[in-house]
Amino acid sequence: MSNQSKQENSLTMNIVTDIEAWQVIRNNLGNKTIGFVPTMGNLHEGHLQLCQRAKRENEVAIISIFINPTQFNEQQDFATYPRTIEQDAKLLSDHQIDYLFAPEVNQMYPDQYEIQVTETMISRELEGAHRPGHFNGMLTVVLKLLNLIKATRAYFGEKDYQQWLLVKKMVTALFISTDIIACETVRASDQLAFSSRNQRLNPTQRETAAYFPKILKQTETIEKIIATLQSHGFKVDYIAEKWGRRLGAVWLDDVRLIDNISTTPQLTD
Ligand code: PAF
Repeated sequence: MSNQSKQENSLTMNIVTDIEAWQVIRNNLGNKTIGFVPTMGNLHEGHLQLCQRAKRENEVAIISIFINPTQFNEQQDFATYPRTIEQDAKLLSDHQIDYLFAPEVNQMYPDQYEIQVTETMISRELEGAHRPGHFNGMLTVVLKLLNLIKATRAYFGEKDYQQWLLVKKMVTALFISTDIIACETVRASDQLAFSSRNQRLNPTQRETAAYFPKILKQTETIEKIIATLQSHGFKVDYIAEKWGRRLGAVWLDDVRLIDNISTTPQLTD
């Protein structure tokens, strides 16, 4: 994907890969309200709904695609992460997104990741306990992106609930003025949450995967939920109740899925 501005490839969206070029564009946007969606690309319906909301609620919508090496636990996982930038750019352009920001790793990490953001409490639990260092990498890159984009609002999916909590905590602690907005998890018709990882499931695994949200929702004890998941062939990393949610991470062979639901009763009229 080539650099900067509306491109030869007939997209109606501006693509910016160079940080200095982005900073000039950002200065020119002045006081316009900016909605920002950070992603690692390989966009699906979940991302697109975040993009639509960013577009609806702000004057300018900016999406980033940056496959962040520092938040992967396995080098292999980083190396094989789907890179679908051409297809993603087309989708974003079709959704009238104004800017795609897609920087290179060496531009984002001029310090070789010697400077890191660490949260010392909730980042150690659940996902953090199973993926050591993951949240350091995630928080560090999100801070860099928030500093570069200087958005009015940034949109995060609730599927990564612990990520959202940590980003919110970071912006409060570091006095960053972007509003961090949680958006409800987008699900396929069989309830499986959209995720780039779903593509790695073969048809049989994909069918089994749909049991994960359904079992997570059962009004049962955590022990019973774990046992039911195991009886369907899932390997369970954790199921836990915290922060008004029931959260879980499971494996189907080598594919890891996460999800969570609210445990606070929803008020109805
Ligand atoms: O949720 C993601 O896709 C990533 O963790 C994020 C927020 C884009 C940071 O790399």
